[in-house]
Amino acid sequence: MRTLAIVNLKGGVGKTVSAANVAHILATVHHKKVLLVDGDKQGSASRYFSVYGEHDGTAALLLADGLDAEGVERVIYRTGYYGLDIITSNLELYAADRALYDRQDTDTARVLSSVLDHVRNDYDFCIIDNGPSVDTVTLNVLAAADDVLIPIRPDEFSFSGLLDLVEQVDAVRAAVNPGLTLRGAFFTHWQNRETFWQARRSLEDSGICPVFQTAINYNPKVPESTLEEKPLCAFAPRSWAAIQYKKLTAEYLALTDSGKGKEG
Ligand SMILES: Nc1ncnc2c1ncn2[C@@H]1O[C@H](COP(=O)(O)OP(=O)(O)O)[C@@H](O)[C@H]1O
Ligand SMILES: [Mg+2]
Repeated sequence: MRTLAIVNLKGGVGKTVSAANVAHILATVHHKKVLLVDGDKQGSASRYFSVYGEHDGTAALLLADGLDAEGVERVIYRTGYYGLDIITSNLELYAADRALYDRQDTDTARVLSSVLDHVRNDYDFCIIDNGPSVDTVTLNVLAAADDVLIPIRPDEFSFSGLLDLVEQVDAVRAAVNPGLTLRGAFFTHWQNRETFWQARRSLEDSGICPVFQTAINYNPKVPESTLEEKPLCAFAPRSWAAIQYKKLTAEYLALTDSGKGKEG
């Protein structure tokens, strides 16, 4: 199982839409077995697949001490899409974050990674959506991940925010997860405007992290798809956003196949 974390310290950049659609495309287009983990207490990824609720989810993985295989199976839900399962989230994740933070032992960052060991042979990919912060939950996600992707809005792009995040990724790699690879950033809410191209060029020139070729256009079908609680390839398969998320997923897969990207 290869684990991909979609992170950005900002909200509203497209983390949830990207995690949900990349997960759905890996399962339905590439026929992979995929586990989507909702790592945001707002539970937007869970809502996207109509499985938001009171039941146990990501918080239970983090709260229970050494959950066994059966315990992990119990919090995995079917999405209704072949090959795609989900571990949901709700406000309980806030309590889980506090509880982890209050624990004094050194292994608080490895809880998620070790419970996911139970399902490592059941899935090809685990895609993790995150909240807009670096809290103990996000540290657990980065400690459990092989790859990191950063969605960026060109109209809100700031070097300082991105540098903070890259530093966090570097810190987790150094402290707990030497295999963590920052695969790169990609633009969402993209429009063909000179200022956006300037943002893209300055990011590429900065060398902070690789920049994906594929950008996701600004497209009203995206918010409509979340309201309808259907991923883009099911809701609007011919939309630009659906097509571009397929390209983005293929670009990511090509990197993992060849093992390219920024290592170490
Ligand atoms: N490519 C896009 N075009 C138009 N709206 C988008 C696009 N991507 C995301 N959105 C919308 O922007 C908002 C934020 O996206 P979301 O994935 O929830 O961001 P995050 O998880 O980073 O907070 C949502 O309302 C979503 O529907
Ligand atoms: Mg979100």
